[in-house]
Amino acid sequence: MKIAANTATSRIHSSSIFSDNDTIEKAMVNSDRLNHIANKDHNAPIGLFDSGIGGLSVYLHLAQQLPHERYIYYADTLHVPYGNRDSEDIKALTLTAVEWLYQQGCKLIVIACNSASAHALEIARQHYPQLPIVGLVPAVKPAVLASKSGHVAVLATKATLNGTLLDDVIATVASPSGTTVTKYFDPQLVPWVELGMPDNSETAQNLRQQLQLFAKDGIDQLVLGCTHYPFFKDFVQQEIEAQKLSMQVVDSGQAIAERVKQLLITNQLSAKTHASLDNNELETNAIAKNVRQPLVFYATKYDTSLDMLLPRLLGKHTPLRYYSYPDC
Ligand code: DGL
Repeated sequence: MKIAANTATSRIHSSSIFSDNDTIEKAMVNSDRLNHIANKDHNAPIGLFDSGIGGLSVYLHLAQQLPHERYIYYADTLHVPYGNRDSEDIKALTLTAVEWLYQQGCKLIVIACNSASAHALEIARQHYPQLPIVGLVPAVKPAVLASKSGHVAVLATKATLNGTLLDDVIATVASPSGTTVTKYFDPQLVPWVELGMPDNSETAQNLRQQLQLFAKDGIDQLVLGCTHYPFFKDFVQQEIEAQKLSMQVVDSGQAIAERVKQLLITNQLSAKTHASLDNNELETNAIAKNVRQPLVFYATKYDTSLDMLLPRLLGKHTPLRYYSYPDC
């Protein structure tokens, strides 16, 4: 069902396309059907996936760096949060999402979720070897490089903190430089963001107190290791200023957008721009005419709060088409 820009009224509720049990098999069967990657379809969309609305923080960086691209976003609001789920569950849900984005003809997919990347990036790449898939890992490297105290904290979900991707970065970047990495999670943070981050909640209060504790421990770099968290970056920075703490906040959004840009160039998949099209193509190609394409947003479960939240998180000038799954 198509919804007017910046409004969301679809009421279709459904479970995801595959039941959790048959996800992996079906994803494998379907993975060979399409060949849009091999055909170098420049104007195919970039797919983004997150357990909920967190990956929109990555989309904002992508839209800024690559405004000529089209984007499709899959929010698994039916199963959010992923952070407390076990590894097999996260793998199955991620493969469902990636398969769906692949079936939409995406030329590149960003798993805009640290928790999903930690447990399913490798298996997703194995299933779709021809498809560029970008995953997220908390931005420990820039934090370690910038740290003067030699002590950084990673704020992430339990699933991300328990995954091997983060431990690999700690082992290769932090440990050799003698930097201590403190891992911290609060299971309420993702639901708090999904609720629109009410200021007076207990979660906000806990976060304020936690910042003080980090500072007492000599932590001078705080890594936001979950794509939901950049949405409260302003809140954290205001607290840091108000409490006169010496701490910087780091996230991965900008680096991911740069990585996507570079991969599109390497794979010759960048959207064609005005200068690269002939007159016939210019007639029909809205992107090339510098018309910004609306973000196409699918949620596996409709929730009225999204009506307010999406324009708030994206800014009211981001064109948006919102669909409730599986009406697609
Ligand atoms: N945005 C997801 C991440 O980066 C949130 C995880 C969750 O759903 O718990 O990890």
